[in-house]
Amino acid sequence: MAKLFVKQAKQYANARPTYPQPLFQFIASKTPSHNLVRDAGTGSGLAAKSLAAIYKNVIGADASEKQLEFAANLPNVRYRHTPPTMSMAELEQMHVNLLRDNYKNIDFPFEPVNGANHTGTFKFVTETAMDFNDFLTYIKSWSAYQTAKAKGVELLGEDMLQKFKLAWGEDGQIVAKLSIYLRIGSAENA
Ligand SMILES: C[S@@+](CC[C@H](N)C(=O)[O-])C[C@H]1O[C@@H](n2cnc3c(N)ncnc32)[C@H](O)[C@@H]1O
Repeated sequence: MAKLFVKQAKQYANARPTYPQPLFQFIASKTPSHNLVRDAGTGSGLAAKSLAAIYKNVIGADASEKQLEFAANLPNVRYRHTPPTMSMAELEQMHVNLLRDNYKNIDFPFEPVNGANHTGTFKFVTETAMDFNDFLTYIKSWSAYQTAKAKGVELLGEDMLQKFKLAWGEDGQIVAKLSIYLRIGSAENA
């Protein structure tokens, strides 16, 4: 899956909306010890940065070195490159399936954290103001867009752009609501 994200790594760092504070309050409230947290698929470290304000030590792991290059250097965050063990075809298929069920069926061999009786998904919503160009940059940061592009398919061709423009209207900025799905678990008894 890592390569799916390589091309948009820089765009990604700039275009992704931030995560909502309630997400981190939830994570903090479920983990009595704030000594160590591991952010799996840390990407360009957006979530890791917020976790670094709560936890003494953060490990941000990602299969994409390129993504990690854009992650902020913080004294209590260590980034680890964890190369993928699957083939690209397997990873692509897995990614599609995981997106379909919002990561409910990903192999997640951890125990529920304090006060929870499952490991998720837990849903959060983030709101972000976007103008039309922000919206396009955001869409272009998606792995689906990048994958199609790598295979010679431009999903945001002139026709599609016009349709989006029409739907956007004259509104300028809108507030977009985006869903975030969290899996969280403890490695203590895993
Ligand atoms: C949606 S992005 C993560 C966003 C990130 N958490 C943030 O705060 O912006 C998913 C990330 O998972 C990484 N990834 C995908 N499959 C992986 C795997 N098997 N092992 C480690 N990282 C993986 C990708 O390289 C990508 O950076």
